[in-house]
Amino acid sequence: MANFQCFTLAKRLSLDANLKRAGLEITRLCRSTSLPTAGNTYNPNAGSRTFHTNSEDSHQQGKRSKWRDSSAKKSALVCALASAAGAGLYWTVSKDKNSDKHPKTWQGLRLSLPGKVFAAEIQPGVLRSGLPTYSAADVAAHDSKEKGIWVIYGNGVYDITEYVSQHPGGTKILMAAGKSIEPFWEVYSVHKNDEIFEIMESYRIGNITEVPEKSKSSDANDPYKDEPERSPLLIPSSQKPFNAEPPVQMLADQFLTPNDMFYVRNHLPVPCVCIDNFTLDLKLSTGSPSLTFQQLTKDFPKRSVTAAIQCAGNRRSEMVKVKPVKGLNWGSAAISNAKFSGVSLNELLLRYNVDIDTVRAKYIVFEGLDTQPDGSPYGASIPLELARLLKNDIIVAYEMNGQPLPRDHGYPLRIIIPGVVGARQVKWLNKIYFSPEESTSHWQRRDYKGFNASTDWHNVDFDKSVSISQLPVISAICDPVEGQELEEGAEEVTLKGYAWSGGGRGIIRVDVSADGGKTWHEATLKPNGQTPYHSYAWTLWEADIPLPKGETKTELVVKAVDVSYNVQPDSVAGIWNLRGCLSNAWHRVNVKVPLVEA
Ligand code: HEM
Repeated sequence: MANFQCFTLAKRLSLDANLKRAGLEITRLCRSTSLPTAGNTYNPNAGSRTFHTNSEDSHQQGKRSKWRDSSAKKSALVCALASAAGAGLYWTVSKDKNSDKHPKTWQGLRLSLPGKVFAAEIQPGVLRSGLPTYSAADVAAHDSKEKGIWVIYGNGVYDITEYVSQHPGGTKILMAAGKSIEPFWEVYSVHKNDEIFEIMESYRIGNITEVPEKSKSSDANDPYKDEPERSPLLIPSSQKPFNAEPPVQMLADQFLTPNDMFYVRNHLPVPCVCIDNFTLDLKLSTGSPSLTFQQLTKDFPKRSVTAAIQCAGNRRSEMVKVKPVKGLNWGSAAISNAKFSGVSLNELLLRYNVDIDTVRAKYIVFEGLDTQPDGSPYGASIPLELARLLKNDIIVAYEMNGQPLPRDHGYPLRIIIPGVVGARQVKWLNKIYFSPEESTSHWQRRDYKGFNASTDWHNVDFDKSVSISQLPVISAICDPVEGQELEEGAEEVTLKGYAWSGGGRGIIRVDVSADGGKTWHEATLKPNGQTPYHSYAWTLWEADIPLPKGETKTELVVKAVDVSYNVQPDSVAGIWNLRGCLSNAWHRVNVKVPLVEA
C-alpha cells in the first residue's frame, strides 16, 4: 500500500522540474512508512526497520544491503527501465557536480512500482533544502541509544539509532556516535559505495553547515601554533602537548597500525624541521660528525624492524580507579605497531670506528629537537649494556610503514629501540652521545620510574628507582569494549585483542575467560612472523568462547604469557604506583547479555 503511495506520488510529479525534490519526498515517505526496498520484503513481525532480503535467510538479516545482492541489482535495473518507459519518466545518471569529494555519486530519482522501489538519486551529504539545520553540538549530544545516535557525513545529519542493531559491521558503528563518520570510513572504505550511501541517506534528518573548528592557534606566541594536522579518529588525552590514542575497537583490526592512527605521546610542542638545515650530530671518541638527512638515507643500507611502541602509562585509567595518580588518563590503546626503517645504529657507529661493545661509558643518550621553554631538549638514555644487547636491532628511523616519519612521530628521525618504553625512543632525534651518567632530562630522572604501592608523593625518592626501559608483558581486549551490550541471548562471544612483551620476548599463550577468570580458554594467536627472543611486534589474537549460561552480565578477562613465562598480575591494586606506569594487570571488560524477550 505504501509502495503504491510512492508510485502515485512519483507519477504526480513526473516530468516535472521538481523531479529531484519528489525523489526526496518519496524517500522520506518510504522511510516513514518502513517501506520494503528492492529485493527485500517487509517483515511485519520485526522492528520497524527490519528487512529480510529475498535471497537470504533471516540469520543474515541486515548482513547485506539490498544492492549488494547482484540478483537484486539486476531485477531493480530491469524494473527501473520498465518503470521509466511505462511511466514516461526519464532516468538521469550524472556525476555529482557539487562535490569533488564524491565524484562518483549518482543523480536521479527514487521511483517505485508496486512491490519495488528503485534508487537512482544518491548525493551523500549534500545540503538538502527543507530539512532543519543542526550544529555540531546538537549532533554531539546524540551519542547514545538513550539520547539517539546521530552522525554527520558531509553536510548531512543522520539519525541512525534504529540502524545500529542491523549494522553488518556490528557495534563498531557506535564509535562514530555524535561525530562525523568520514574519518572512520577512510579506514573502513568498504562503505564508500552507492549502496551504503543510499542506506545512509534514508536516515537523513537534517543539514549541518558548521565549518569544523580550526585546531591551529591564532596566537603568534603560542608554542603550539605549528602543530601538525591530526586524524579526527584519535582520542586526545591532552591537546597541548598533544597526546592521543586511537579507538581501541579499531586497534586489533590491523597488524600494522596506520600512521595516522598510531598513538601519539608528545611532551612538548612538535618542532618544525627544515630538512635542508637538519643534521644528526654524533659526539664520539673518534670525532663529532654531523650527518645530513640525505647522507643518512643514501650512504647507509636501509634496515627495518617491525615493533610495537607502548607508552609506560598505557591502561593507566584502570590504575586510577584504585587511587588517583598523576598522569594522562590513557585507555588501553596507548600502544601501536609499525614497521620502522632507517639506518642501523651499530652500522652508523662503525662507520666512525666506534664499536658499541668496547665504548667506555655507561649510557647512550639521545636528544630531540623538541625543546622546553628554557631551550633544553627532550632527552632520554638507555644503559650501554642494553644497547649492546640490542645493537643489531636499534634503528635511526626515517620511515614508518614505508612513509616518511610523520611529524607527530618524529620527522625526520626517531630512534627505535625495540622492546623498550616509548619515552626512550626519542623523536625528532638530532643528537647521540655516550655518557658516564643517564640523560639529565626530567623524563629520565623524575619520570618513567616505578615504585611500590605504599610510595606516594610525600615519601618518593626518584633517585633510588631504576628508570623504566624494557617493558613487562601486557595484553588487552580491544573488542568488545567495556559496558558493551552483546546480542540478545548470546551464548558465545568473540574476543579480539593484542598481547606484547618488552625485551623482544615473544608471546607464547593468551588466556581468555568469560567468567571473570574462573575458567580459561586459549586464544588463537596470529603469528607476528618474528622469533621468540626477537619478537618486537605485538601478537594479535582472537577467541570464540562460551558465555556463562543464564547470566545477564559477565566479566571478560585476558592475560598473556611471554616466552620467559612472565604472566600478567591478576589485579592492579598490587602494582599501583604514583605515576600510574606499567599498568599490566589482567585486562577485564564487563559486558551485558540481554535475555531474549519471550
Ligand atoms: C549510516 C552509517 C553506516 C552504514 C549505512 C553502514 C553500513 C554497512 C554495511 C552495509 C556494511 C557491509 C558492507 C559489506 O560487507 O559489503 C558495513 C560493514 C562494516 N561497517 Fe558500516 N555502516 C555505517 C557506519 C559505520 C561506521 C561509523 C563504522 C565504524 C566506525 C562502520 C564499520 C563497519 C565495519 C568495521 C564493517 C565490516 C567491514 C568488513 O567486513 O570489511 N560502519 N557497514
